Amino acid sequence: MRYEVDFLVVGSGIAGLSFALKVAPYGKVCILTKGDAAEGSTRYAQGGIAAVMYDSDSFDKHIQDTLVAGDGICDREVVEMTIREAPDRIRELVQYGVNFDLDRKGDRFDLHREGGHSEFRILHHKDNTGEEIERGLLEAARRHPNIELKERQFAIDIITQHHLGQRVTKHTPDIECYGVYALDCDTNRIDTYLARVTLLATGGMGNVYSTTTTPVISTGDGVAMVHRARGVLSDLEFMQFHPTSLYNPAEKPAFLITEAMRGAGAILKDRNGHEFMQKYDKRLSLAPRDIVARAIDNEMKLSGKDYLYLDAREIGKKHLIEGFPTIYAKCLSIGIDITRDMIPIRPAAHYQCGGIKVDRRGESSIHHLFAAGECSCTGLHGGNRLASNSLLEAVVYAHNAAMAAIDEYKAIDFKTEVPDWNAEGMVLNEEMVLITQTKRELQEIMSNYVGIVRSDLRLQRAFDRLNLIFRETEDLYNRSVLTEPLSELRNLIACAYLIIKMARARRQNVGLHYSLDLV
Ligand code: FAD
Ligand code: SIN
Repeated sequence: MRYEVDFLVVGSGIAGLSFALKVAPYGKVCILTKGDAAEGSTRYAQGGIAAVMYDSDSFDKHIQDTLVAGDGICDREVVEMTIREAPDRIRELVQYGVNFDLDRKGDRFDLHREGGHSEFRILHHKDNTGEEIERGLLEAARRHPNIELKERQFAIDIITQHHLGQRVTKHTPDIECYGVYALDCDTNRIDTYLARVTLLATGGMGNVYSTTTTPVISTGDGVAMVHRARGVLSDLEFMQFHPTSLYNPAEKPAFLITEAMRGAGAILKDRNGHEFMQKYDKRLSLAPRDIVARAIDNEMKLSGKDYLYLDAREIGKKHLIEGFPTIYAKCLSIGIDITRDMIPIRPAAHYQCGGIKVDRRGESSIHHLFAAGECSCTGLHGGNRLASNSLLEAVVYAHNAAMAAIDEYKAIDFKTEVPDWNAEGMVLNEEMVLITQTKRELQEIMSNYVGIVRSDLRLQRAFDRLNLIFRETEDLYNRSVLTEPLSELRNLIACAYLIIKMARARRQNVGLHYSLDLV
């Protein structure tokens, strides 16, 4: 099937939905999403969204905290723009129907604090902020007559001059995006979506690693598509590991214990119940994430144990049960009463700071292709994202991209000469087990050699092992009917390759990139 839409959006998390709602008054919008619409990192977000809402805080302080967490390599102008725009974007979320908790009097937002923040500035909805944001935006999108939301549609590749038979390299000056090819997961048909403007909002790539807080859909599809289309990517060496995921080895994704709990007074402790963060940073358990995750990693290696503890008991029973109901219930379900017991925790891959390089308007190096949310790289996070700045970045850049798209779209014609996907001569791939096993191998390689602490030797080893997996998988791809698992595996391999390549090129320890050879 062939479709023509003014605005094509790939992804139905906070970034995709925010963009769709903004452009919808101007034309036909189609949102493709590979699973159920609500599934994505957005709905798992716990802590909240950072913004300066009152005079007790200041833009300058939030800017400074972001720059410090980013370890000196944030784009300062982007930081300033994002943080100053935040209150307007928050008010829009509220207008779309998103509820944030209010304080006791009910006239101000209740604000939390997280690692690296010098003030209480995190708007939240209990400890399930993302679920509330996703609910509000999804309901608003479903109500809009110009928005069509198509679930179980897997975008395979963006369409460029390459698909018209032209040679496209990373030096080709004016690569253009004409839309995407997408697999209908119910019929296995590959459809052609032509668009005036396309937005990638495909989220992160946490599944490159074995232990991740991100859902199974986070397989770096947008980044891999842009890589194949020869677009510009940046900063992928900065994979953020969240210090405190619940240690419950069989569970995937790893359940998060929000940093807001440390903001409320919970303390990291070793297996003997002793605090240890004083050895690493004077901000103790509330130091920025890269520092805390490295400290935990080191303590785990010193003790030879798989987990440490977060002690939340001082927060008090009432506050824990009312303020963190999701975490309380989750822990109780596996026999941990957080009002009485310490919580076993370990770091888990959580957030990709790098991605598709975009300008201030959210436009990528490929014409008519925008990106927003976790798949993009705006320059806001530098070497390490400040907690709760991700949801903020997603709404700010969805807005900027929408404004730019509205400006541009009328002057862009559909590229009707684009051919349909050619699937001739492909055999049905019956070796699903190979795909599952290869994915596991890839995750092991990345976790063992490209984790929190790296070295030249580890990166080289990862690269060599990945190369073998890459060749085997390309061979399978060339012989097989395209399926979602196979496509995701190729994308994960591409992302792993890019992380290793950029990590090897970064010859300085900064933010989340830490190599023993650069100490
Ligand atoms: P997502 O919400 O991940 O959505 C991606 C969408 O793209 C999905 O709809 C998916 O189906 C679709 N998609 C992907 N690939 C394809 C494809 N090939 N074809 C079609 N559709 C596709 N950040 C904060 O700021 N504050 C927090 O408190 C916070 N807590 C977090 C807690 C957890 C457990 C996790 C995992 C992350 C947290 N983050 C937090 C990070 C933040 O939630 C994410 O970065 C953000 O939600 C990403 O939004 P997104 O719209 O970019 O992507
Ligand atoms: C958390 O709640 O700790 C996650 C916040 C974030 O990833 O920004």
